[in-house]
Amino acid sequence: MLENIDSIGLDFDTELQGVKDLKQLEEIRIKYLSRNGIVAGLFEQLKNASKEEKPRLGKELNALRNSVQEKFDNLKSSIEENSSEESSKIDLTLPGRNRIIGSKHILVQTLEEMKSIFKGLGFSVFEGPELESDYNNFTALNFPLDHPARDMQDTFFITEDFLLRTHTSPVQVRVMQKVKPPIRAIMPGKVYRNEAVSSRSLCVFHQIEGLYVDKDVTFAELKGTLISFARQFYGKDLSYRFRPSFFPFTEPSAEMDITCYLCKGKGCRICKHTGWLEILGCGMVDPNVLENAGVDPEEFTGYAFGMGIERTALLKNGITDIRLFVENDYRFLKQF
Ligand code: PHE
Repeated sequence: MLENIDSIGLDFDTELQGVKDLKQLEEIRIKYLSRNGIVAGLFEQLKNASKEEKPRLGKELNALRNSVQEKFDNLKSSIEENSSEESSKIDLTLPGRNRIIGSKHILVQTLEEMKSIFKGLGFSVFEGPELESDYNNFTALNFPLDHPARDMQDTFFITEDFLLRTHTSPVQVRVMQKVKPPIRAIMPGKVYRNEAVSSRSLCVFHQIEGLYVDKDVTFAELKGTLISFARQFYGKDLSYRFRPSFFPFTEPSAEMDITCYLCKGKGCRICKHTGWLEILGCGMVDPNVLENAGVDPEEFTGYAFGMGIERTALLKNGITDIRLFVENDYRFLKQF
């Protein structure tokens, strides 16, 4: 091998030419210059050389080692220099890329505001399932068997006995079955109706239900609670009115209207020229419902109310198309 000192130097040169990065260079260093590398191996063999040969071979070997080392060092520093040139091409003065920071959806904001007002009035939050029994959604709430709302057109039935709840009122039944009066509960959640999607209706939307059951609860308390809510939510100076209405699960029943936010009561397209906007349904819990849910109607009375969260957010913010809530258009969402 000692005879090949020259050709080893040539091999090293060839290999060095193929090197593109520090990793490849390091592989070559290990092959030639490490403790078990080719050059060290040659020095090892030098021990066995004859006395006469040793000085010449030793000289040649030293020269090989020095030149290999030198070429290695040169290439290494030139690779390092290039890569630092590469990084100096980054322009630190360029402005950064802006990140879009998300925000709470307007429906979430609306619901949170409602919840916090009702919490202030002494209500706690309960939730029920979206897949509900026909019994809780209709029968327990005093809907007659032939009530049109059970019709396939309005209700998504899953089986004959189970459906996607059409309102949050079945949660009233669940709460009364679980909790002994006094009960003061609000129950927000998703509801489903088999309706054509338009600017005014979606087939999935949200409601918030309220229920108060205790001894001697009166309609006056119902009105007081709802007026207090509306003043906090829509503003102190709002005008309101209660209109008689009908729901199978409340008796008597009413709907609450507030002055139209757009025309201030003068009459416009949004309020259908009445000057009023309906914001919720309410009434005294029907004694049949109390009984169906295991509450003694001789001992307790109660009131209930329910309102749509999309509808409320529409009215409050002057939005005219309910579909905007689900389209996830950033230009719409970022306004709130
Ligand atoms: N559940 C009724 C609806 O979906 C609203 C309501 C709730 C009315 C409670 C009276 C009492 O329209």
